[in-house]
Amino acid sequence: MSQDEGPQRNPAHGISTRAVHDGEDRRKAENALTTPIYQTSTYVFGETREILDYNAGLNERFEYGRYGNPTQRAAERKLASLEDQDDALLFPSGMNAITCTLLALLRSGDHVILTEDCYRNTRRFCDDVLPRFGVGVDSVRACDYEQLEAAIRPETRVLIAESPTNPHLRVADIPRLVKIAEDRGVELLLDATLATPYNQRAGEFGVRSIVHSVTKYLNGHQDLMAGAFVGSAEAVETVRRFCRPVGGIPDPHQSWLILRGLKTFALRMERHNANGLAIARFLEAHSKVERVWYPGLASHPDHEVATQQMSGFGGMLSFEVRGDEAQTLRFADTLRTWQLGPSLGGVESLCSHPATVSYYEFSREERYRLGIFDNLIRLAAGIEDVDDLIADLDRSLAAV
Ligand SMILES: Cc1ncc(COP(=O)(O)O)c(C=O)c1O
Repeated sequence: MSQDEGPQRNPAHGISTRAVHDGEDRRKAENALTTPIYQTSTYVFGETREILDYNAGLNERFEYGRYGNPTQRAAERKLASLEDQDDALLFPSGMNAITCTLLALLRSGDHVILTEDCYRNTRRFCDDVLPRFGVGVDSVRACDYEQLEAAIRPETRVLIAESPTNPHLRVADIPRLVKIAEDRGVELLLDATLATPYNQRAGEFGVRSIVHSVTKYLNGHQDLMAGAFVGSAEAVETVRRFCRPVGGIPDPHQSWLILRGLKTFALRMERHNANGLAIARFLEAHSKVERVWYPGLASHPDHEVATQQMSGFGGMLSFEVRGDEAQTLRFADTLRTWQLGPSLGGVESLCSHPATVSYYEFSREERYRLGIFDNLIRLAAGIEDVDDLIADLDRSLAAV
């Protein structure tokens, strides 16, 4: 294979160039410009010698679809390049990436710490499933580093962090977390779904294990589910080895859509950042708005940390309507350009009411304790013209 044929990776390039080119072979089958979809479950050998060489690890190739396919591999290499990490592993969903990574890292008798505002299904998996396998779990308050340090025990193996979180966009002090993890011999696993490698260079702070819901900004088009674990070669290999018999795989077509989505990743993020900031400023100045949660605003409790470790603040923000639940729901029902729905990170702008969507199973007391009040609205700004998005919000706030 000549240098021109193998997978491209150029760390000197900017993130837009890497999003377009990295991970993919320069010369592709039949001289195609884009990486093809290899829609096959099985890869054949020309002769038995090739099988023996493959078993001995002498050539990198594909054998059976559950162990990976070339389109998936290209998407994995592109993700690794974007995060400045050695390697990546794709999963059929973000939750699958999180659960498989945790199961690969943990043993019975281990202990895990996570923050109370972690994605609720990560919390549910840790609270409901891990204890059945003899793993202890403790939750600590977001950004309370003293409580976090006090919760670490000799058997603590993994510290799960998320930054920013949702819906309050709390931003963890990542260098501080890295130091705590290193000093105490704990593995730090960072869910960087909301930040993305465009806004937060986690690798530069020493993070070597990152998970993503690729469903969100990375794919960006709200047309598929996927997840990824990205990190050191050793960590990815540990997770990959665990996953082989477990059997969840992203299929070739899904991998191709991810590759396609990633090509415009940097462009989309630029617009998400600009829209998020403009909308946050608009809402903060509005008389029908009580409070806005956006790390790009000086009023956010983590604004200073966010400014130090993020280059943009994304399209996610939350705000409290000056009114009760009925008025808040009226606001949501009046929206036209914004659509009601869960998820975030796609080109279409979405609005949700956390009290009745992601937190509907919580008791009112527990919900209030977590700051999920009846008048809280979560917005995921897409890439539409910001004036249209703001006009829709303004019209709907007038109906409150
Ligand atoms: C921060 C975060 N992590 C993980 C997930 C799970 O990802 P998926 O929905 O792709 O399984 C989500 C989904 O909303 C999320 O917001």
